[in-house]
Amino acid sequence: MSFTSEIAKRKTFAIIAHPDAGKTTLTEKFLLFGGAIQTAGAVKSNKIKKATTSDFMEIEKQRGISVATSVMNFQYKGFSINLLDTPGHKDFAEDTYRTLTAVDSVVLVIDCVKGVEEQTEKLMEVCRMRDTPVIVFINKMDRDGKDPYDLLEELETKLNIKVQPLSWPINMGTSFKGVYNLFDNGLLLFEPNKKATQDNSITINDLNDPTIENYISKRDADKLREDIELIQGVYEPFNKQAYLDAKLAPVFFGSGVNNFGVKELLETFIQIAPNPLGRPSTTRDILPQDPKFSGFVFKIHANLDPKHRDRIAFLRICSGKFERNKFFHHVRLDKNMRFAAPVTFMGQEKEIIEDAFPGDVVGLYDTGNFKIGDTLTEGEDFLFKGIPSFSPEIFKELVNNDPMKSKQLEKGIEQLTDEGVAQLFTFEIGNRKIVGTVGELQFDVIQYRLMGEYGAKCSFRPMQIFKAYWVTSDDDKKLDEFKRRKYTNIAIDKDKNPVFLAESPYTLKQVQENYPDIIFHSTSEFKLLDV
Ligand code: G4P
Repeated sequence: MSFTSEIAKRKTFAIIAHPDAGKTTLTEKFLLFGGAIQTAGAVKSNKIKKATTSDFMEIEKQRGISVATSVMNFQYKGFSINLLDTPGHKDFAEDTYRTLTAVDSVVLVIDCVKGVEEQTEKLMEVCRMRDTPVIVFINKMDRDGKDPYDLLEELETKLNIKVQPLSWPINMGTSFKGVYNLFDNGLLLFEPNKKATQDNSITINDLNDPTIENYISKRDADKLREDIELIQGVYEPFNKQAYLDAKLAPVFFGSGVNNFGVKELLETFIQIAPNPLGRPSTTRDILPQDPKFSGFVFKIHANLDPKHRDRIAFLRICSGKFERNKFFHHVRLDKNMRFAAPVTFMGQEKEIIEDAFPGDVVGLYDTGNFKIGDTLTEGEDFLFKGIPSFSPEIFKELVNNDPMKSKQLEKGIEQLTDEGVAQLFTFEIGNRKIVGTVGELQFDVIQYRLMGEYGAKCSFRPMQIFKAYWVTSDDDKKLDEFKRRKYTNIAIDKDKNPVFLAESPYTLKQVQENYPDIIFHSTSEFKLLDV
């Protein structure tokens, strides 16, 4: 198969949702369609439902599972589809944001009873930052949920994106009859617990045809006719380009657990979802068709086996062809490396691959060379953009509880933060270490893993810090002076960039006013400009 047809058959996406909306269920149904799994229940959910203190034990148990489900490849009608898993728990949001940099589109699952939830809004914000095309799946239509018109309006207002239904439900809850597919004028009748491969769609050429009443009651048929007329009056014919430009999100209704509407979603997905897209870099836009290989690391999974200190770096291929045992250039380290055992994952199986193409994700065994955001190329010097660290939301000082194990603690916190579990800031004076996360749960995870994997005992001391801002200036002298004067608030990040730790929005505002020559960045993205 030619290089261009390899690219044309690939689609790389993620399913995102507020926990419990049905992401795991939908993932599983997709994999059943693709024949990647044979039985329901094969995809272990990597969710951690409630933020209780014992959750980190659960997380630990789930780590082995989550590495296996990090990337799931399945084949469907000639397409090679890569589904990237994202953790559901909000304290792991940063991990999800990074994973979203490695996909080309997303399917957003909404629970029809709950509508748009907190996490849904945050995830959409991240999608919007990168103009990621979104398809919405309104799930659990077998339950009495919100009115479909209200749901559409809620999506538009809360998610700040235009939506357009491509299917329309006939009732919901116990009287749910099915959906009418506006894309191909098909009527799909609801049957609970349908098998993945079963098909009971009926093609309707004219909704006014009375034979439709052989399938649904006259009352339901009349209501459907009315709804469809209204919808067709309101919406223009579906504009695929608007979806690809992330200006319009098509909406489907269904019920994941009943395998209803999933096939229709998948069929539309393969028709409209983008093939691997280009990615901006520090020198130019890198296109998948570029013959030379390039890719970036968006996730690192460490110490699966603590005895071996093994890490797996997940690399999204952006251009060219990745080959086993070929030398590639690690741009940040200016070092050539080759990989004898690159892997893909499916279920619990790991498989060594010989080559991979744009859109694919490969797992690379790593002995500490990779950090999140690293770029590999065939020799060219550029870095991929768009994988920034965001300012954390909770900051605590790391306290060493066992002076005999300082080295282990130091090494452990360095490695765990390489993995992206949290961010690390260090005060140059006194070497005090500040750990920043997006959720409380991470502190439990870090404490537990430092003990379990490095034998280092630690605790955390809360700090009055509101946000971290990376600081730069066009005038080096002014920056030095700022650092000197504000030394009690200045720490350095892992790449030795100065960061201003603001105690409150008020102090930040004041400092910004007093130091107009200093630029405050809320993400670390600016760093790339120096390369
Ligand atoms: P998540 O990964 O987004 O967190 O959600 P998950 O798929 O685990 O689904 C959350 C719960 O919602 C599960 O029930 C699942 O069975 C249920 N669910 C998913 N799709 C539908 C649907 O279309 N209709 C209805 N009524 N329920 C649905 P659970 O009780 O938490 O778990 P389980 O014991 O059923 O697995």
